[in-house]
Amino acid sequence: HVIVTPDILFDDCYGKYAIPAINVFTLEQVSGVFRGANRSASPVIIQTTPVARDYAGPEVLLGMVAAAAEAYPDVVYALHLDHGNETHIAAALQAGGYTSVMIDASHDPITENIHRTRAVTEAAHEKNVFVEAELGILSGVEDDLMVDVASSRYTRPEDAAYFVEQTQCDSLAVAVGTSHGAYKFSGDQGIRFDILAAIQQRLPGFPLVLHGGSSINADELARINRAGGRLAQGSRGVSDDEIKRAIGLGICKVNVATDLRVLWTRVHREFFVQQPEQFDPIVPGKVYIEAVERLCVDKFEKLGSAGRA
Ligand code: G3H
Ligand code: 13P
Ligand code: NA
Ligand code: ZN
Repeated sequence: HVIVTPDILFDDCYGKYAIPAINVFTLEQVSGVFRGANRSASPVIIQTTPVARDYAGPEVLLGMVAAAAEAYPDVVYALHLDHGNETHIAAALQAGGYTSVMIDASHDPITENIHRTRAVTEAAHEKNVFVEAELGILSGVEDDLMVDVASSRYTRPEDAAYFVEQTQCDSLAVAVGTSHGAYKFSGDQGIRFDILAAIQQRLPGFPLVLHGGSSINADELARINRAGGRLAQGSRGVSDDEIKRAIGLGICKVNVATDLRVLWTRVHREFFVQQPEQFDPIVPGKVYIEAVERLCVDKFEKLGSAGRA
């Protein structure tokens, strides 16, 4: 199997395409993402949040990832800890396996964010582990934290170069209008390309990361609600055109968690409505694995990462 650090992937993709970074929580997701990457010959960043690590325990989660990498030995992937703090990162560095970690001190004032991020880069770089940091605050639900729109804050382009220089981080997650979760943009809202362009101007060639990168298929939401769900409709996710423009402005990594969750909900709601006599997890599980594979193949095409492994 081919596990890499993201710098190799970002060197190749900068300005041309983006590396998909997919959050996995379950066996079906791990399996579906590896199958998609294998079929598309796409490099992929497999990422786990602290909540995902706690769900089954990190040994089980990472054991599944390692086993999938053995089963699909051609897949080129990095293993990334998403939205970590010092405790999560220490555990990840200690246990090994991760080639990349994110220190999310974005909710702290910038001096504290710099201080905390710099300490992490020192420890991680000693082990040749890549570090993503974040500047600015996204709204939405992130792990077990809910951030309302009023508390969110765009990345200040004038802080970006100083932050990177002071922290020695290897990539920077930016807040340019996206949010975590299923409800991102309403009305004529969208990614603030003016802010992203100003950040890129201050950090030419430096890999930027888009959190809240799910596209949120409106048809999937409608199907969920027809099968008894109650998800709000009317807002949208990140469009294919926005992804393309963002790549041109230095976005190298697009984080996706919610699209796989929405898909899980649609598959299982429809399955049990249509086949109410069923009670075997592997029957809808198989449907979901195949649907995750298809979603990934489609996404890798749109990010331009297909065929780049
Ligand atoms: O920001 C990361 C993910 O969207 C959050 O996933 O909160 O369910 O762990 P999780
Ligand atoms: P979504 O909620 O758009 O999938 O964002 C995922 C993310 O940023 C994970 O870090
Ligand atoms: Na991340
Ligand atoms: Zn995120």
